[in-house]
Amino acid sequence: MEAMVTKNSSQPDPDFWRGKRVALTGHTGFKGAWMALLLKRLGALVYGYALAPNTQPSLFEVAKVAQEIASHVDDIRDDYSLNRWMTSVQPEVVLHFAAQALVRESYRDPVGTMTSNFVGTLNLLEAIRHQASVKTVVVVTTDKVYRNDESAKSFQEDDHLGGHDPYSASKAACEILVDSYRKCFLSHIGLATARAGNVIGGGDWSKERLIPDAVRAWESGQVLEIRSPAAVRPWQHVLEPLCAYLILAQNMWSDIDLARAYNFGPAVTDAVSVKQVIELAQTAYGKGTVQFGGEQNGLHEAGLLHLNTQLVSEVLGLVPRWNLACAVEKTMAWYRAYGVGEDARSLCLRDIEAYLGA
Ligand SMILES: NC(=O)c1ccc[n+]([C@@H]2O[C@H](COP(=O)([O-])OP(=O)(O)OC[C@H]3O[C@@H](n4cnc5c(N)ncnc54)[C@H](O)[C@@H]3O)[C@@H](O)[C@H]2O)c1
Repeated sequence: MEAMVTKNSSQPDPDFWRGKRVALTGHTGFKGAWMALLLKRLGALVYGYALAPNTQPSLFEVAKVAQEIASHVDDIRDDYSLNRWMTSVQPEVVLHFAAQALVRESYRDPVGTMTSNFVGTLNLLEAIRHQASVKTVVVVTTDKVYRNDESAKSFQEDDHLGGHDPYSASKAACEILVDSYRKCFLSHIGLATARAGNVIGGGDWSKERLIPDAVRAWESGQVLEIRSPAAVRPWQHVLEPLCAYLILAQNMWSDIDLARAYNFGPAVTDAVSVKQVIELAQTAYGKGTVQFGGEQNGLHEAGLLHLNTQLVSEVLGLVPRWNLACAVEKTMAWYRAYGVGEDARSLCLRDIEAYLGA
């Protein structure tokens, strides 16, 4: 018998996820590694498809995620491999995280960014089209898909898409692509896009991201230079959007009318400046120095970004659980504990238990 899905339930439902076959792209990345551990905790059967981890260290490796799931290392631009993998996995739920996810890297490698993000998503949708087992799909894009005139407005799902830098443009293009597939080929399944803001949490070692840069600088006794202290972003702990994606997927399973684009983000008061976040992080970490207003290299990045999340709160009953102060505290506690030798997987599982019990 199928598990009952409670509408407006604001936690992922283990009765729903237990035994579900879940295809997760991007499982070797920061959000993907956390998602793999979360899905395993909920009892799902997890199959990952991604490139090898590209940070040193990587959460995928230090949390030994490969021991928990079936991990397949390959390129999403390779449609032949992707199709073979999809056929062998026979997933019921697909969560698409794989992407070149960094704005600054997208200036250095626009072609790699566009092909991984757009062609990769196209290949995935085509593979899904030929896979009868799939019932629910969540494609992760970003809050940067909106045409941003820096007017401090709060973006709603029907606002104009756009994208100044290649990363944002590639993700906005994915939104249009998914919408087309939803209308033309995949109207019989639940296919949604999820636009979330910047996430923080233990175990991110990406380059040119705020908290990883801070931890690297403070651990090596260097001064952290902040290039855009006034930039405002909606910040959340990584478990907030991850649980929200799962709640969306479990609701769409029984109601495909929910298939559309959604914003996911924190309370309005948690869209704050880079300076405020770094000051919270410094206090929580207990050491480190910062210099604000450092190097500017002329690359455009959005200055103001606010998301309107009324739709997910009305339709899915979602309310943020950990506010910004709590998210920063959990994140810095993770790095502090890891720095003195605690086990990465145990630290993630501890945060997952705390979040699910919140
Ligand atoms: N981290 C954030 O703050 C944030 C905010 C909004 C949206 N997102 C989105 O969430 C998703 C995950 O982000 P993340 O922070 O974990 O990024 P990440 O860089 O840590 O991980 C990216 C993952 O995608 C995989 N990947 C990249 N190119 C690939 C390719 N050609 N073929 C196969 N796999 C490929 C990588 O191997 C890795 O597993 C991305 O789609 C990103 O755009 C992230």
